[in-house]
Amino acid sequence: MREITLTVNGQRHELTVEPRTLLVTALREELDYRGANVGCETGRCGACTVRQDGDAIKSCTRFAVQADGATIETVEGLADDDELAPIQEQFQENHGLQCGYCTPGMLMTADTFLRDADDPSREEIRDAIEGNLCRCTGYHNIVDAIEATADQLGETE
Ligand code: FES
Ligand code: FES
Repeated sequence: MREITLTVNGQRHELTVEPRTLLVTALREELDYRGANVGCETGRCGACTVRQDGDAIKSCTRFAVQADGATIETVEGLADDDELAPIQEQFQENHGLQCGYCTPGMLMTADTFLRDADDPSREEIRDAIEGNLCRCTGYHNIVDAIEATADQLGETE
């Protein structure tokens, strides 16, 4: 067993994990951050996407011990108390989800992408989310939501 420290959504946690424990498992089962979903555990679906030290990563593709000392942001940290983040508002407005299974990962990928993307094209948005699979929506509304968020953020700058 190994002792590690993770700072998740601003809160520092010390936990003891097996060396083989995946980061997503540590987040969900040890720390009860259940926003990141497990779809494939092979790095393909993106349902488990969180931010580690500012980068969107698939948390099933690394062990928790590899994230020792890291700052992690999960979908639970996007909203500011009851106030949804712009990306969440726009997913709601644009019906960017159906079953919602892909949504936490999609939100984290999109939110991270929009930190650096200024007025992205629809093609750039599609490229940005290519590692996040959605079985329900056909992606059109998700792209609409991300585009609307970019517009909203552009207007408030
Ligand atoms: S569960 Fe991690 S990429 Fe699918
Ligand atoms: S909304 Fe169901 S998988 Fe995307």
